[in-house]
Amino acid sequence: MLKGKKIAVIGGGKMGGALIQGMISGGLVNPESVTVADTDEARLGELARSCKVVVTADNGEAVRGADVILFAVKPQNMAEVIAALAGAVPLSALVISIAAGIATTFIEERLRPGIRVVRVMPNMPALIGEGAAALSPGAFANEADLKLARHIFDSVGITVEVKEELMDAVTGLSGSGPGYVFLIIEAFADAGVRMGLAPETSLRLISQSLLGAAKLCLRGEKPPAELRAMVTSPGGTTLAGLKVLEERKLREALISAVEAATRRSAELGGRK
Ligand SMILES: NC(=O)c1ccc[n+]([C@@H]2O[C@H](COP(=O)([O-])OP(=O)(O)OC[C@H]3O[C@@H](n4cnc5c(N)ncnc54)[C@H](OP(=O)(O)O)[C@@H]3O)[C@@H](O)[C@H]2O)c1
Repeated sequence: MLKGKKIAVIGGGKMGGALIQGMISGGLVNPESVTVADTDEARLGELARSCKVVVTADNGEAVRGADVILFAVKPQNMAEVIAALAGAVPLSALVISIAAGIATTFIEERLRPGIRVVRVMPNMPALIGEGAAALSPGAFANEADLKLARHIFDSVGITVEVKEELMDAVTGLSGSGPGYVFLIIEAFADAGVRMGLAPETSLRLISQSLLGAAKLCLRGEKPPAELRAMVTSPGGTTLAGLKVLEERKLREALISAVEAATRRSAELGGRK
C-alpha cells in the first residue's frame, strides 16, 4: 500500500522515530523512500545510521514530491512549521498529523485549500510496537486515505477510527492511559513488597498479570465483567481484594480521572 510512495516525516523525535521504525521493520516501506526532517542534527544522524532513511534539516526539501507527509512535531510548533510549508506541499499529498489537540481544520486552512488530512492520536507504547491509536479524517480525506493511515499505525500497535469531536476523549483515555497504568503498577508493586516480595519480583509479577489480563480483554471473547467473575470464587482471595477496591471507590476514581483528562485536553485546545 505504501510501497513506491515517497514519505516525508517532519519531526523525527520519539513518536516520529517509532513510526519510521515500525514502517521499516514491518516492511511497509523501503528506507530510501523515507525522508526525515528535524531541527536536531544529532537526531538526524542517529536516524540515518539506525534506519538508513534520507535525512534533511530542511522541511521544504522533505515534502517536495512527497506522497505522504507525516507531521510529528510538538503541537506548539505546528503553526510555524505549517506556515513555512504552505505552497511547498503537493496538493496530491496525504497529510497525517499526530500533534495532540491540533484540529484537521487548523491544518487544512493553513496548508493548502482542499488538502487531504488525517489526524491521529497515538500513545506512548507505540515506541515498542504496542500502541493504541485513534484516527479521524479531515474534510477532504477519503476512505483510501484512512486505510493508508491505519496501515501505518497498525505497524506500531492497534488502530480505531473515531469522529474528530471525540479526540479529547481519546486523549483522556488511551493518550493518558499509560500514565494511569504506570501508577497502578507502581502501587501494586509496592503492595507486593509490603507483603514480603522482593521489589523486582513484585514488579514482574504484577506487570505480567496486567499484560495477561489485558490480552484476554483484547481477544474480545468475553467482557471484562465476565472474566472477573471467572477469577472470583465465593469466599475466595480475589473477592476479598475486590471488595476493598469497590469500597474505596476505585471505579469512580478512574472514571473521574478520564473525565478530568478529557476536560483538560479540550481546555488546552481552546475548546472549553
Ligand atoms: N510521545 C508520545 O507519547 C505522544 C503521544 C501522542 C501524541 N504525540 C504527539 O506526537 C508529536 C511528537 O511528540 P514526541 O513525543 O515525538 O516529541 P519529540 O520527541 O520532541 O519530537 C519532536 C521532534 O520535532 C523536532 N522539531 C522541533 N521543531 C521542528 C521544526 N520546526 N521542524 C522540524 N522538526 C522540528 C524536535 O527537535 P528538537 O528536539 O530540536 O526540538 C524533535 O526531534 C507531538 O505533537 C505530540 O503531541 C506524542
